[in-house]
Amino acid sequence: MQMPPYRPPTPSGTYRAHSPSPTPNGRQRGSQSGPSGNHGPPPGHNTHAVAGGRVTPKPMLTDWSIDRANQHYNVEGWANGYFSIRGASSSAAHLTTGSPGQPVATISTIPNLSSQTHISNGNAPTQGDNSPGSPASQQAPPQPPPSPTSKAVDGTMQVHPLGLKGPTFNIMDVIDDIKEKGLQFPCIVRFLDILRARVILLNEAFLSAISSLNYGGTYRGVYPIKVNQMKEVVDEIVDAGRPFHYGLEAGSKGELTVVLGYNTDPEAITCCNGYKDEEYLRLALLGRKLGRKVVVIVEKLTELPHILRIASEMSVEPYLGLRCKLTSRGSGKWESSGGDFAKFGLTLPELMRAVEVLKERGMERCAKLIHFHVGSQLTELRVVKEAVMEGARIYAKLRKMGLGIEYFDIGGGLGVDYIGTRSGEDGSSMNYDVHEYAYDVVYTLMRICVEEDVPQPHVVSESGRAITAHHALVIVNIFGTITVGSPEEIAAVSTPTDNEHRVVQEMRNIVGSYTSRSKTAKSWQDAQAKKDEALQMFKLGLLSLEDRAKVEGLYWAVARKMMPYTKSRSRKLRIPKEAIDIADKMADQYMANFSIFQSVVDHWGIDQTFPIIPLHRLCEEPSRDSILVDITCDSDGKVDNFVEDYGTDKTISLHTLRPGEDYYIGIFLTGAYQDIMGNLHNMFGRLNEVHIYIGEWEKNFQLLLLVASIADTPDDDDPEDYYIEEVIRGDRVADVLGRLFYNPQDLVRRMKESLTSNIRSGSLKPKEGVALGEFYDSMINSYTYLKAIIYESKNRIRDVSALKEQLY
Ligand SMILES: Cc1ncc(COP(=O)(O)O)c(C=O)c1O
Repeated sequence: MQMPPYRPPTPSGTYRAHSPSPTPNGRQRGSQSGPSGNHGPPPGHNTHAVAGGRVTPKPMLTDWSIDRANQHYNVEGWANGYFSIRGASSSAAHLTTGSPGQPVATISTIPNLSSQTHISNGNAPTQGDNSPGSPASQQAPPQPPPSPTSKAVDGTMQVHPLGLKGPTFNIMDVIDDIKEKGLQFPCIVRFLDILRARVILLNEAFLSAISSLNYGGTYRGVYPIKVNQMKEVVDEIVDAGRPFHYGLEAGSKGELTVVLGYNTDPEAITCCNGYKDEEYLRLALLGRKLGRKVVVIVEKLTELPHILRIASEMSVEPYLGLRCKLTSRGSGKWESSGGDFAKFGLTLPELMRAVEVLKERGMERCAKLIHFHVGSQLTELRVVKEAVMEGARIYAKLRKMGLGIEYFDIGGGLGVDYIGTRSGEDGSSMNYDVHEYAYDVVYTLMRICVEEDVPQPHVVSESGRAITAHHALVIVNIFGTITVGSPEEIAAVSTPTDNEHRVVQEMRNIVGSYTSRSKTAKSWQDAQAKKDEALQMFKLGLLSLEDRAKVEGLYWAVARKMMPYTKSRSRKLRIPKEAIDIADKMADQYMANFSIFQSVVDHWGIDQTFPIIPLHRLCEEPSRDSILVDITCDSDGKVDNFVEDYGTDKTISLHTLRPGEDYYIGIFLTGAYQDIMGNLHNMFGRLNEVHIYIGEWEKNFQLLLLVASIADTPDDDDPEDYYIEEVIRGDRVADVLGRLFYNPQDLVRRMKESLTSNIRSGSLKPKEGVALGEFYDSMINSYTYLKAIIYESKNRIRDVSALKEQLY
């Protein structure tokens, strides 16, 4: 058999045999950049990336605008077409031309219409094809009814659950609904249509590659539920994946109980990974008894005889998967998941022994699947291909030894571009998209099968992160700021007084003589030396507290003078590193009502970057260089790594808080691992959640568009375009207490005893004691996060909860 020529997919994901299509900004993509090539920055940037994600930006826009905001927070880069800033012109460009990695918005994504799911098939246009040249795009779309109530204004973040061409609604409207329901922030919003769209995107990408290459097998993906085991998430994935016979993967007994309950499709695969005991194996084989394709993956050679023994006791033929330890290793943060010293899998000698064991028992046909996993969040496509090449050779040799392998399981690892730079150098980005991934996997596997003259197996992938990351957004409210060297602090020391101490006068001279950027290095060194001198003198009793305070205030004045030179990265050139560091450290600390350990634990644990952006006011220039600090009593509880200017930065530009006005920040792409791995540090529990679907009206409207072959939905922001399908209340204090084995009733009893004894001794009035008791009781039933704190003025915080009412 001849291999077809290597022709990677076009950005739209529909395979086209000829020239690559131009992108919105006129550049060519596709074969030109190669399957693992980096793709350029968005229009308006002239950027060169450097190692570690640090880049030198050259923004072409100097004045602030919504387009500038779009570039600054790199929304187009990471949002993948699911989110945009209302009013940004480049998003509008995408509405007519499509974008790389843009999710498919076809009828197949509409809930309850899955029987009509369209599986794109090679060159054939999809049912939802509305490319610029198609007749569809030339008709005027019907208009949705106007909404008098929407809070959507330019500069607010909006959602496109089915991609940029699909229905749109505004996150500020969702925030209003959350408030109306009496839910407190922080709050997770799950856009369940995005989950569906991701499942469809992945399946269609593989089916499209298979069809375009005329590959001999099919695709049978599985979702590893460890990435997000929440019932609603698994429900949605199973439902969206049904037309594709999309299966599930379990890594423990607990997960397998879920998977056996949910994956009832006899065509879909169930993968059983992880170390196994007898109970786990019996559970897996129970699935085989039901006639399902439950594959027990052999992670350790010692598991094999037990599987065979229990299968024989249960009179069932097992489906075995052989997990190989490939020498090819992943790239990025999870590199050690693969390679010779990986935790799971069989070495080559062990694999040979497994073949012997199966042959001795005449059970070669039971080896149905070969599996490897070289790490999560693979940053480079080259690495994926290396692994597939090695795995495919092993597959071919095992086939030739007589094993009946039908499935080739490439594990997880399909990345998510959290920072949107399309760079294989930063662990939070990657240099390929879903279509390129699928195409290169199928192409590489096929090439080796053709060379080795073995049957082309069905492809299985265990992508988790790429399925779930995009659907979850954590909305956090800001309740104040901390500023080191604030203008008030500096103003207080700016006027000299009579008889000032020499050290104070000298520090004043340093501030005064710092007049240009070229003096930064010298002035900063002098200021540091003077501050040290003041400290030594203070310790020796030679400097008063007042004078030392003046020296410190003037020291911050020098640092503040430096900030304009260190703010923009391109201007940081030729500025001493310590001056840049101090400028970063002097960033305002925005106090955010959340726990990093509960909501974005990977930022703390492995320095992963998540896209974070204000959800409104994006038409105003953000003037404060900031970091986010959470409400845990832990100095690690801060976010100091952000997506900015087509790279990452230690600070984020935020807006000055307005007295009496809420300010909301969104932490995006948190749907993979974060939901599940978050912990109870400081007893901050699970967040309130709302689950959102696009509205019934929109579903029908979308249907109408497809029937009428009309292109884009209009840019509407009708709040009725979505509905909150479910509200899940986050942990109350009592829930968290229970998990730590406290008895809330017992605590209430203990408090009542203390109050009673204080009332008896006369130190508390009875009425006051009763009110305090009731207040304590109500706290046990309250949300674990800060309640109703709004920014009032001058960094003062006002707790507007009904504390007084409850007390008196
Ligand atoms: C065996 C296996 N399969 C699948 C996955 C999911 O990987 P990802 O979320 O990167 O797709 C993992 C996670 O590390 C894994 O260990």
